[in-house]
Amino acid sequence: MPNTESSVPEQEKLNERLEQANRQLLQSEKMAAIGQLAAGVAHEINNPVGYVYSNLQSLESYLSDLFRLTDAVDSAASIDDLRAIKQNIDYDFLREDLNDLLAESREGIERVKTIISAMKDFSHIEEEEFKPADLHRGIETTLNLVNNELKYKAEITKEFTDIPQVECIISQINQVVMNLLINAAHAIDNFGRITIRTCHQQDKVIIEVEDTGKGITQDNLNRIFEPFFTTKPIGKGTGLGLSLSFNIIEKHNGHIEVNSVPGEGTCFRITLPASQPPGKTDSKTDHGRI
Ligand SMILES: Nc1ncnc2c1ncn2[C@@H]1O[C@H](COP(=O)(O)OP(=O)(O)O)[C@@H](O)[C@H]1O
Ligand SMILES: [Mg+2]
Repeated sequence: MPNTESSVPEQEKLNERLEQANRQLLQSEKMAAIGQLAAGVAHEINNPVGYVYSNLQSLESYLSDLFRLTDAVDSAASIDDLRAIKQNIDYDFLREDLNDLLAESREGIERVKTIISAMKDFSHIEEEEFKPADLHRGIETTLNLVNNELKYKAEITKEFTDIPQVECIISQINQVVMNLLINAAHAIDNFGRITIRTCHQQDKVIIEVEDTGKGITQDNLNRIFEPFFTTKPIGKGTGLGLSLSFNIIEKHNGHIEVNSVPGEGTCFRITLPASQPPGKTDSKTDHGRI
């Protein structure tokens, strides 16, 4: 007969240690995701910043040409001198190119602004409150952040239909979608397609992420939601993405299913209730427990 008097505190201690390990794992998966994101975001920002910088250099040289012309207004002996300078600096080209440079730079800065606002949306990762949210906006935010990981691997197709707002912790749903998108990209060898679909059936909202990747064998299919199950080399996979996603969806009283044909592709389907059952949105629940 086990001695229950001494085993209860033992059990509590063990539970506490397990919980602590869970929290550390959750944190490490988040850190891995953030590291991955940071690399992508740096790349995405680097490109527009690069051409805005080079446009600024061109602007500097154009401005100095323009100043040469306006300064000559005081010093030129005749209007013909002025005309000569105007021709010399290739005024017509400069005028046209200035407009192009400004338009291109504005576009670059807009892109950086979009990425930064997506990062802001994403960084509320600790927020625990269930609130009605626009899933399409969340998906766009996520796409903006992982664009760099995806664009060399797949064409992204969005098949969105009108869906109601969903009562959820949007930063966590974004994280799930991010995991699915990155897994999809990893599964594609050369270049494929990733389709993101949304629809609703009565009070349930469905998100699907489908890829034309290598698929999952029947044996692996039974294991993909297990913590630490990965088929990826060390450094590439933690094996925590899907188990974390599963827990997040479960916490939202939804479910996640997968359909896969080896050699053809995989489709993950998330079903979420548009509104949470009363009393089921306690913010103290063990979200993201692995
Ligand atoms: N879209 C997919 N296509 C093929 N295999 C997948 C896909 N998504 C997940 N998997 C498989 O499930 C495993 C576990 O995924 P995950 O929990 O995200 O961990 P990780 O990506 O770190 O390996 C992957 O290693 C991979 O074998
Ligand atoms: Mg993964």
